[in-house]
Amino acid sequence: MADLCVQAPAKINLHLEVLGLRPDGFHELAMVMQTIDLADSLELSSRDDGQIRLRCDRVDLPTDGHNLIVKAAELLRQRSGQAGLGAELSLRKRIPIGAGLAGGSSDGAAALVGLDRLWNLNLGAQELHRLAAELGSDVPFCLEGGSRFCFGRGERLEPLPLEAPPPWGVLLIKDPSASVSTPWAYGRCKALRGDFYLEREVDFEQRRAVLRAGALRAALAGVRALPLPPLRNDLQAVVEPDQASVRSGLALLRDAPGTMAVAMSGSGPSLFALFPSLEMAEAAGAQLAGALERGGFEAWCCRFSGSGVRLG
Ligand code: C5P
Repeated sequence: MADLCVQAPAKINLHLEVLGLRPDGFHELAMVMQTIDLADSLELSSRDDGQIRLRCDRVDLPTDGHNLIVKAAELLRQRSGQAGLGAELSLRKRIPIGAGLAGGSSDGAAALVGLDRLWNLNLGAQELHRLAAELGSDVPFCLEGGSRFCFGRGERLEPLPLEAPPPWGVLLIKDPSASVSTPWAYGRCKALRGDFYLEREVDFEQRRAVLRAGALRAALAGVRALPLPPLRNDLQAVVEPDQASVRSGLALLRDAPGTMAVAMSGSGPSLFALFPSLEMAEAAGAQLAGALERGGFEAWCCRFSGSGVRLG
């Protein structure tokens, strides 16, 4: 029996706009991220021999220092100043790997929250957020979850705010044989679009203001049942020419009955379509099942969720 279990949900990007380059070499982004109820689970137990050990039910995932869970554990132990702290970690993977769904980032966030509790560190939300940002650009969002604007390199979070997540359904698809490296996607974006990047903070802020006041936020908040605007992901145009499964998957999803919007998530290659309800997403998934299977896609139906990583 594990001492603790933490759920680590995936996210999709409802908006991903590349604004420019930052002095630290990362891209300045304006995004809307949304947690969905497809989650990995991380079980944690104490070890008194000071070792940090990770096991995973997927053999193709590294369980050494390359894994964000192990990085999070080492960062937290270092921050605590207690070199003798140890943990046994066991990851059950449900989120597809290398898909643009922040699976690895969410696992890292789950390790921070779980080990903070297991080791009785009580670091507090602000310090956990700081450590999360050190681990990766999407990790702070994974801690908080829900529907949020994410600015800066992704770590500057602003509430949308919504009373509750919209009751929409998500049909998520991914070709299991395809994956995209995030550094590659941003590097390619810079090579193709770098000449048109914005440079001044005043111009970044103007784009943030447009997003804050825009039609996507109104549709998410259910204002007068406004329709969803087309979703924007600047990395989609970069990844699409390189990934046949992104082209064929987008075409399939666009033809699905009842689709409100279709996009790639993050740096891909996972793709999603939004529907007014989970039932409609499931009906579309059933109708497309043959075509998805012939195209080599795995598919999931899920809902928006209002929270990030959580104990339990
Ligand atoms: O922060 P994270 O480790 O997730 O970023 C992975 C890579 O993605 C970075 O090394 C960088 O190449 C690219 N990236 C970027 N701008 C961002 C986020 C990520 O260029 N805002």
